[in-house]
This record gives sequence, structure tokens and C-alpha cells, in this order.
Amino acid sequence: MASQIRSQITRDTPRFTRNVFGEFTIKPLASRRRLDFNSLMNNISTNFARACLVTILFAAASLSCAADLPQIRPGEVWLDDRGQPIQAHGGGILKMGDTFYWFGEDRSPSNLRTNRYVACYSSTNLAQWTFRNQVVKLGDPENLGRGWALERPKVFYNQKTRKFVMYAHLDGRGGYKFASVGVFTCDTVDGNYEYLKSFRPLGQESRDIGQFVDDDGAAYLIFEDRPFGFRIASLSDDYLTVEKEICLVTNHLEGGALVHYQGLYYVIGSHLTGWNPNSNVYATAKSLAGPWSEFADIASPELKTYGSQSSMLWKVTGSNTTTVIFMADIWKPRALWDSRYLWMPLQIGNGKVQLPAPKPWTLDVSTGEATILDQ
Ligand code: GAL
Repeated sequence: MASQIRSQITRDTPRFTRNVFGEFTIKPLASRRRLDFNSLMNNISTNFARACLVTILFAAASLSCAADLPQIRPGEVWLDDRGQPIQAHGGGILKMGDTFYWFGEDRSPSNLRTNRYVACYSSTNLAQWTFRNQVVKLGDPENLGRGWALERPKVFYNQKTRKFVMYAHLDGRGGYKFASVGVFTCDTVDGNYEYLKSFRPLGQESRDIGQFVDDDGAAYLIFEDRPFGFRIASLSDDYLTVEKEICLVTNHLEGGALVHYQGLYYVIGSHLTGWNPNSNVYATAKSLAGPWSEFADIASPELKTYGSQSSMLWKVTGSNTTTVIFMADIWKPRALWDSRYLWMPLQIGNGKVQLPAPKPWTLDVSTGEATILDQ
């Protein structure tokens, strides 16, 4: 086996040299000293020692890979390519080809107070984000009055119509009585989305919304229906309306997020405590229609989800493994623009979910591997 491995360990010794200003600079050596892996292996007498060396080298290689990847740092200011804090609160992810798009509430202090904004960012690694556009810059479309709300935008791509369709929670201030969704469309992923209409999905109250696209491509909206609990409903063929109820879950939860993982559906939601954090809970079911298991905390209840509230679950399926990311907001109600994000890989499987303590981590989207650092 060892002889089949083609690998070379290269050691560069830096050489100091003076530049035209007489300053010392470091220059790599022109000729590199090479340590040939095969001859190294041939000099080791036992198979056991060879196996140990291979294990150590592979471990070192994967550690150095994780170290090379950009870090996701929960709770810290997350800057975009312009060096500005990412404004994608209560957001959602859409993947087109190899590119991820993150849409969310843009709460920049420079925004007009009368308008509401949605920003769009793109990334190929889910860690480094490029600002694309303020895809929504909207004045009160339904006469909802001062302090009106456009929250938790989620974008779906409809293959048939080739349109990007955005859903968002639309509401007025003071009791959130409008309790409706707003629908927007666009021909391009990061163009200017056009406001189409608002409605109450299935005629029911709808406040926090969540988005779920199943492995078969079917698109669902999750919406909190205050008198009853929350509902999971499928979208119409063109995605422009909410067509069919799949399940009414009678637990009163918001920030609804779903993932389909190893043959089970997992739903996560938060209790109804406004901007204040609470202990988010999960349940599982073999079918979206239920029956759903009892809800249980995703972390010790006194931790209140490390100060965050669920927004989306995102599954990264790579060549080696699958990681499910818990995407949540750490709200700062007095300075919403400075609200932070808590993204962490979940411990998930066999019907159980645990949210690990937030720490910097890396994600390799090609292998699917997540590495939590500083452990
Ligand atoms: C939370 C909700 C947020 C926002 C907030 C307003 O419960 O998840 O999206 O609506 O209430 O108080």
C-alpha cells in the first residue's frame, strides 16, 4: 500500500536577501530539498511502524487542511468582501451550481427608515461572502404604517418558470396583526426583486417563516400560525402561492427550520419570546406529514441556545461525509444592524440533535467535513 502512495514532503528554508532599498526580505530557495516518501517508507523496517507513520502523516495533512480553510466564527462580526458587516439577518440560503447565496434582512444604519431591505451575498465555501446587491429596497407596500416589518426573507428557485421567488414575513408594528407573507420575483438570483403580492398562506396567520427544499427538489414553506402552532406547506408549481398543507404541528414554535438527514426529518424551532433567546427545540419524523416525536432541547435549556434563535438548517453533502449546519441569529434588538450569527455544525443522527458550544470552525464543502477548532 505504502509504495502506491505518491507524495513528497517539501521543506523550504527561507533565504534572506536585501532589496533595492537595502531592506532584508525573504526569498524562497530556487532548488527545493525533497524528502521522498517511498524511500522514507523503505527505510522503516516493520509494517506497524509504516502504518503509524502513514496515520500520523494523514492526520497532519487533514489538520493542516482545516487550518488552511477560512474560519466561521460564531458571534463575531462577520465581514463581507468589502469589509462591511454582513447584513443577512433572519436569512436563508439558496444553492445554484457550486455557489451559495445568502439572503437576509439588511438592517444597515444607512438605510432609509421608511424602507425595508434585503441583501444578497454569494460564496463557494459558506465562510467568505461577497456582497452582490440590495435585492429589495422597498417602501411600505401595503400601508402597514410606520415601523412596518419585512422579516426572514427566503428565496426559492423555480426550475419551470426560471424565476427566483422570495417569501418574507410582512407585518405592521404593534401586535403584528397583518400576519402575512409578501412574495417577490426576479429573473436573476441577485437582481432587483419585484414585489408581487401579499397573502395569508392557506388563509392562516403567518409570522416567522422558514424554507425547506427536500432532496427530491420539492419546496416547502414553514410558517408560524399563532392560534394553532406551525404549519409545513408545499408551494404551488410556480411557487407563487402556498398550495397544500402537509402538516400542522401544534407546538407553538417559530424560527422554523427543517432538514432531511439519513432518512429522518428534523425540525428545529424556538419558543415565542420575541427578540429574547430561549432554548430551541427539535423533533423528528419519518415523513413531513408526521407524526412528529416529542420536542427536546438542542442544548442545555439554561444556555438559551447560546443566545441565538434558529433561522435555517443547511445540509452540506461532501465526498466523505455530510454536515448539517445550524444557522441562527444572535439578535441585538437595540441595534439590529449589529445582530450576529451563530452557525455551528450540529451533532445529529439516530433521531438526536445536539448543538455544540459555539467555537470557531472550518468547513470543507467538497468533503463535507467540519472541524471545530480550539478544542
Ligand atoms: C421574533 C422573531 C423575529 C422578529 C421578532 C420581533 O420572535 O423570530 O423574526 O419578528 O420576534 O419581536
